[in-house]
Amino acid sequence: MTATLIRFMRLGNDTKSGMKRLYVVALLALSCVKAPEQTSTAGGTTAAPHGGPVRIGFSMDTLKEERWQRDKRLVEQRAKEVGAALDVQVANGDDAVQTKQADNMLTKGVDVLIVAPHNGEIAASIVEAAHRKGVPVIAYDRLIRDSDVDLYLSHQVEKIGEMQADYAQKHVPKGNYVLIGGSPTDYNALLLRKGQMNVLKPAIDRHDIKVISEQFAREWKAEEALRITEDALTKTGNKIQAIVASNDGTAGGAISALEAAGLAGKVLVTGQDAQKDAVQRIVKGTQTMTIYKPIQPLAFGAVDAAIKLAKKQPVETKDKINNGKKDVPAILIEAIAVDKSNVDSTVIKDGYFTHAEIYGQ
Ligand code: BGC
Repeated sequence: MTATLIRFMRLGNDTKSGMKRLYVVALLALSCVKAPEQTSTAGGTTAAPHGGPVRIGFSMDTLKEERWQRDKRLVEQRAKEVGAALDVQVANGDDAVQTKQADNMLTKGVDVLIVAPHNGEIAASIVEAAHRKGVPVIAYDRLIRDSDVDLYLSHQVEKIGEMQADYAQKHVPKGNYVLIGGSPTDYNALLLRKGQMNVLKPAIDRHDIKVISEQFAREWKAEEALRITEDALTKTGNKIQAIVASNDGTAGGAISALEAAGLAGKVLVTGQDAQKDAVQRIVKGTQTMTIYKPIQPLAFGAVDAAIKLAKKQPVETKDKINNGKKDVPAILIEAIAVDKSNVDSTVIKDGYFTHAEIYGQ
């Protein structure tokens, strides 16, 4: 992507101190997030324009899935390493709470917000409120729709959907499929389904693959996935060959339904997140694959980008994604498909889990 960056460089002191301001507007053709740049009087890598450490607000939807606990831990670790002040708030799946928590952080005074939205549309109001105070916003993992959000940091979500479907199709080229999406209020769930369909559509059109059910599990709930799977088993008289579950939580729900029907291990099941119970199921044989998304580059990347945005410095980006209002500059990290054959050379080698955690002693 080549975005045009308008850089405002402030030279000299501001009017409050009675001095003249001089703005130089430079047009740069760079792949960067648009950011007004100011010179800071304070030294140190994390000093904000106000002179103190950069204050980052991290608004999280949930800690329900194991990965989000990892995200929180790593964001905290990175903020500490670089000397930024961090406030983390978790909304537990409640949009009103998330909006309020973000408002509170803005009132207390943050220089930048990182938001993992519960609802990608409702969170647009958080961006508006932040921008009214001149605070930039990073959409973390999940896109914030129809807003002027400054940056999007995530994995390659649509590609992950393609990887899940590709794996399923390679191993089960013909048969009855169940597609279990995530929460419809999470744009990731829609991107994943888009990716899955990119791959499956030709096989569906050829009638090699028959989609028995293509629903979305509210709130990414395992119970919803269980119900969807039970219904599909009933509808087909237990004749399901593959379940494309969009994450490990929903895969777990689907596998519970398969277990009750005596079919666990006989039906291909995909997932995402490489969470511990899922990787254990993979080596046991009841879940077929997952998608490993390294969280450290995401968490560290978000803190580092937040500091740059707070200091009104440009952030280099290679990607972009349209959120309904604009092309949002994006940093999209690669993910890795994991099955029995490469558990050791991926999640265990990386130290995501120990050998004992996955295989037992
Ligand atoms: C994330 C997944 C996660 C899901 C449920 C998605 O937006 O990308 O990693 O499993 O939300 O929390």
